[in-house]
Amino acid sequence: MSAIESVLIENRVFPPSEALVKAARISGMAGYEALCAEAEKDFTGFWGRLARENLTWDKPFTRVLDESAKPFYKWFDDGMLNASVNCLDRHMGTPVENKTAIIFEADDGAVTQVTYKQLLARVCQFANALKAHGVQKGDRVLIYMPMTIEGVVAMQACARLGAIHSVVFGGFSAKALQERIIDGGAVAVVTANYQMRGGKELPLKAIVDEALAMGGCESIRNVFVYERSASACPMQAGRDKTFAEVLKGQPTECAPVSVEAEHPLYILYTSGSTGKPKGVQHSTGGYLLQAKLTMDWSFDLQPSDVFWCTADIGWVTGHTYCTYGPLAAGATEIVFEGIPTFPDAGRFWQMIERHKCSVFYTAPTAIRSLIKAAETHDAVHPRHSNLSSLRIIGSVGEPINPEAWMWYYKNVGGERCPIIDTYWQTETGAHMINPLPGATPLVPGSCTLPLPGIFPAIVDETGHEMPNGTGGMLVYKKPWPSMVRTIWGDPERFKKTYFPEEMKGYYLAGDGAVRSADRGYFRVTGRIDDVLNVSGHRLGTMEVESALVAKTDLVAEAAVVARPDELTGEAICAFVVLKRSLPHGAEADKIAKELRDWVAKEIGPIAKPKDIRFGENLPKTRSGKIMRRLLRSLAKGEAITQDTSTLENPAILDQLGQTH
Ligand code: PRX
Repeated sequence: MSAIESVLIENRVFPPSEALVKAARISGMAGYEALCAEAEKDFTGFWGRLARENLTWDKPFTRVLDESAKPFYKWFDDGMLNASVNCLDRHMGTPVENKTAIIFEADDGAVTQVTYKQLLARVCQFANALKAHGVQKGDRVLIYMPMTIEGVVAMQACARLGAIHSVVFGGFSAKALQERIIDGGAVAVVTANYQMRGGKELPLKAIVDEALAMGGCESIRNVFVYERSASACPMQAGRDKTFAEVLKGQPTECAPVSVEAEHPLYILYTSGSTGKPKGVQHSTGGYLLQAKLTMDWSFDLQPSDVFWCTADIGWVTGHTYCTYGPLAAGATEIVFEGIPTFPDAGRFWQMIERHKCSVFYTAPTAIRSLIKAAETHDAVHPRHSNLSSLRIIGSVGEPINPEAWMWYYKNVGGERCPIIDTYWQTETGAHMINPLPGATPLVPGSCTLPLPGIFPAIVDETGHEMPNGTGGMLVYKKPWPSMVRTIWGDPERFKKTYFPEEMKGYYLAGDGAVRSADRGYFRVTGRIDDVLNVSGHRLGTMEVESALVAKTDLVAEAAVVARPDELTGEAICAFVVLKRSLPHGAEADKIAKELRDWVAKEIGPIAKPKDIRFGENLPKTRSGKIMRRLLRSLAKGEAITQDTSTLENPAILDQLGQTH
């Protein structure tokens, strides 16, 4: 049975324990429904109240929502605030001041802790260093950092100055970095000499050098280099400076720059259905509001919690649930540099025990790989760690199959902790559809119900709402404060992608979903566009295709599709036509490896196709259109049942059946 089929017949229900209901911030379905009713009755009043209660404003807003230029919505737009003040200064003079803000565990197991007060001082110092190098409000700063306290500091320091950060995941290639520097027009890069992962020292600064040498990056004035490792890296005099150099003599106080609520806090690139990644632009006020609120709502954050989101700051999950949400909420959080399988696949469980983690938030891919590891090597099974500190566990990034859900529930959550399966996107900024720990009965594989103030629906291609039990496209009928504001430099693409005419003003998420007939619970079935989700990482089919055909000496044509994969959710399958005769055996394997390495260099290792299949041609209709549905069947290894009579070259199907 496929994962989707098993999700559709899922009927186990896990209500929250009475103790949780009693103690939770939102208590029981009655508590949830009361908030939903408030939002329904007075939409702007609801969000206005929460924005006043949850954020510190330098100048209070008088308007909640301005729809005059929709879909370019504005929230709280005459209000002024600063994001780093809301994450740090806000806690000074309260008991949170001397609370641990970050417990950092390095790849090698070394632990460092900083309090809120210390973190504020470090953020101020780095903000002063940026300022001393001319970084100002509105400037873009590209951050290419490992998971470290310094990574969080760099982001917060930008926010303090009103500079717009653009974080690029440390696994992306020089080419990807260069494209993002150019698109954003960044003035500086913040990076580290190396990153430590799985006991290995991997270069970061060298990749920045490579990107800058590719040309077009003349906007970059400085590269700031955090010395993560003692090993030296090449430095260009005048342009490149170490953290030690720029921090020297900088005061630990820095006046925050108050910005308009709509001022961009950051740009984060994500994949869409064209080859060019889009710079998702987020606001300051609306974004921060939902980052903070969802900590309280989705994770029922309590003052004594130790929160751990395992995502990297290179992804939106790391932005909202490492850099902004936990700090705005005054939580103690764990930041982990390494990988879940080093020194062994029990690392997560050992860390939960070591740091008495109480709220743990990770991705289904990680869970699936750790299940596999525990099944083959009992010593890394979670039962060998004391996980009694856990009270809530979460999931993010891709659908969680009921088998993995049950294992996570039993073996990590001890059948005691609710699994908060959070459905959201880079564009939504924060959680949209997920259960609340002390309210929502859980159903494995379902993200259940929308958060209060969020209005999703399932519609057909013409924007008509579908009855429960019938699948369709997921849309949001109303805007929300942390929504994407535009695509950096491309407002037309923003409108076309998210608010296409046929959707009648609804935001189109790009996912398929179905609501259960009985409870109206949402189940997200996956993307309906050309976006792939490999290990919870988002990639465009066109992006991978463009990378493949850029190998002009070898590749004539390429088509990329996703196929289901037990471990990574989806896997990339590339169909390639070479500029030479069809290779066989060891030669085909050699060329496949060459192509994988090429894609890793063009985009990053996460984009390497798992399967590569060679053919003398691709299956096309007589009008020359690639028949992707056939490719999807071939990728899955299914028998071809589709009508192939319109196919120009039916013999090609046999050739393309072979994987390398
Ligand atoms: O397809 C959905 C899937 O991930 C996409 C968003 O990817 P990204 O912008 O990289 O953000 C990932 C972290 C929020 C969505 O369009 N997705 C994300 N969370 C879930 C999910 N699919 C099913 N269930 C989820 N909980």
